[in-house]
Amino acid sequence: MKFEKALVTGGAGFIGSHLVEELLKHNVKVLVVDNLLTGKKSNIDKLDNVEVLYDDLGSDASLMAIETFNPDVCFHLAAQSSVVISVEDPLLDFEHNLLQPIKLLQKLIQTDCKKFVFSSSGGTIFGEPDVIPTSEKDYAGEPASPYGVAKKKLNDFIKLMVQDENMSYSILNLANVYGPRQDPHGEAGVMSIFTGRMLNNETPIVYGDGNQTRDYIFVTDVVSALIKSSETDDNLFLNIGTSTETSVNELVSIIKSITSWEGEPDYKPQREGELLRSVLNNEKAKKSLNWEPEYNLNKGIQELVDWFKNE
Ligand SMILES: NC(=O)c1ccc[n+]([C@@H]2O[C@H](COP(=O)([O-])OP(=O)(O)OC[C@H]3O[C@@H](n4cnc5c(N)ncnc54)[C@H](O)[C@@H]3O)[C@@H](O)[C@H]2O)c1
Repeated sequence: MKFEKALVTGGAGFIGSHLVEELLKHNVKVLVVDNLLTGKKSNIDKLDNVEVLYDDLGSDASLMAIETFNPDVCFHLAAQSSVVISVEDPLLDFEHNLLQPIKLLQKLIQTDCKKFVFSSSGGTIFGEPDVIPTSEKDYAGEPASPYGVAKKKLNDFIKLMVQDENMSYSILNLANVYGPRQDPHGEAGVMSIFTGRMLNNETPIVYGDGNQTRDYIFVTDVVSALIKSSETDDNLFLNIGTSTETSVNELVSIIKSITSWEGEPDYKPQREGELLRSVLNNEKAKKSLNWEPEYNLNKGIQELVDWFKNE
């Protein structure tokens, strides 16, 4: 890897813990800062040689530790990661998704950090798309949740604050990420909820008619995009998805065949504010990063099922 020291905010979370694991394999020195809002110590406590601070990233103690660690790269993955909670408690969302990250940016600008990688959200920073799969140029409309507003605003702050500094940014608009260790309450929790329920012989609930679509990307593919995007000095704004549209009903039938569950889901009324279609065009990321997803749904869900069975 092109760098020696990486700060991973949110490193005890789902995606963050996979990233930390991969960085350690390449002998990168890692500092994790995580306040355990949704993260778990058990996600990383078996990893050796990682420095961990369980605290808000915007606390004085964290900012001081970050200054001392003096990272080459910051992977900013920490977030209040639930759209539903952001609607119930916008102030909490603002605190963790905008206010504290701005303090982090201010601090990093004073250090030797050369790269800021931000996990933004392709499915929430804009409204219902006109073009499917949606490219970085096709985004339209306004976010429908405080979570989406904060992610979009932080994109603007990053571009503004970093422009004349010695640091570049990679803003990655992630699709719906899934894989082992995912909290079922997160953005793509549907995958872990359905898999967990079917393996327990329980009925999954589908909100709406199940024809709403999403773009599901396996966590390993996201980690490789995060790392590749950290190794360039260019400022990047990229969609990280699969360009493949999958309806909830299709998802149910794939998980059914892999878990051998034989029931039918329970259909409930559609939830307000949910996008009908969301799929990201990944052509720009493929070209800019020389990256592409290696997991299709069958392979990814099989790994998820194997993980559930070992848990
Ligand atoms: N999972 C997805 O499908 C998806 C899609 C788009 C974007 N993202 C973004 O990717 C990132 C990682 O998501 P995830 O799915 O791993 O979620 P996660 O909830 O598992 O991880 C977020 C981590 O951030 C920590 N955290 C929250 N606020 C913090 C703060 N103020 N200071 C320090 N730590 C804090 C949490 O404890 C948690 O460990 C988030 O920024 C999320 O918004 C995720």
